[in-house]
Amino acid sequence: MLTCLITGANRGIGLELARHYAANGATVLATARDPAAATELQKLKVEILPLDVTDTAAFDRLAATLKGRAIDRLIANAGVMGPRGGLADPANTAEGWAHVLAVNVSGVYFTVRAFADNVAAAKNGKIAILSSRMGSSTAAAGSSYLYRTSKAAAANLGANFAVELKPKGIAVGVYHPGWVKTDMGGSGADISSTVSASGLAARIEHLSTDTSGVFEDYAGAAIKY
Ligand SMILES: NC(=O)c1ccc[n+]([C@@H]2O[C@H](COP(=O)([O-])OP(=O)(O)OC[C@H]3O[C@@H](n4cnc5c(N)ncnc54)[C@H](OP(=O)(O)O)[C@@H]3O)[C@@H](O)[C@H]2O)c1
Repeated sequence: MLTCLITGANRGIGLELARHYAANGATVLATARDPAAATELQKLKVEILPLDVTDTAAFDRLAATLKGRAIDRLIANAGVMGPRGGLADPANTAEGWAHVLAVNVSGVYFTVRAFADNVAAAKNGKIAILSSRMGSSTAAAGSSYLYRTSKAAAANLGANFAVELKPKGIAVGVYHPGWVKTDMGGSGADISSTVSASGLAARIEHLSTDTSGVFEDYAGAAIKY
């Protein structure tokens, strides 16, 4: 039976991934910034664990709690959008940049650093990073600078993790979940979180050390870094 750790699992795609894996018999370690407020997660058969991905002390605490426990699927899902405007967007402040990079980039780095040994302890352990097509240089649109650059960096982290972790037998995939109807994607998005989560889970099962470093969408279409 698989053990999966999913960050930012209290709503959106993370919640749906938790639901998907739990329904398929996995042991799900679902992290949330505020477990007491994670009412949808509380309805599932999952372990809810506290984690803010900008808090390195919180990573230390959770890594100590999970020490020695094998994690088959580590999913770095937590993310924020930030301001969507162009160069003149007044919301593109230094603090705004620091926050988006802390969640979407160093948050992914700390997630992998904290739990790489747990993934190495699993047979065929895999790491999935939720980036976005918006982070591909082929999708540049002159807007959402903080988000686009942070998701490009998250994808780049995935490419580097794939190299460093291959000798440990860990495969790493970078994923665009589609344009998904969540708080972030909005109600006008293309697909439901259910379709996205089941597609992502299928792609993660398809991932191997031979394909490690892949950047693709929830349906398996390749994306350029
Ligand atoms: N929706 C889309 O169309 C789309 C497209 C491309 C990529 N993505 C990516 O897919 C992932 C999930 O997106 P979503 O649509 O599900 O977003 P969402 O509905 O806004 O949910 C974001 C999740 O991230 C968590 N989070 C935010 N800041 C955090 C922090 N500092 N520490 C820990 N968790 C934090 C949130 O927790 P709180 O409830 O505590 O804020 C929430 O659980 C993100 O990485 C996003 O960039 C989404």
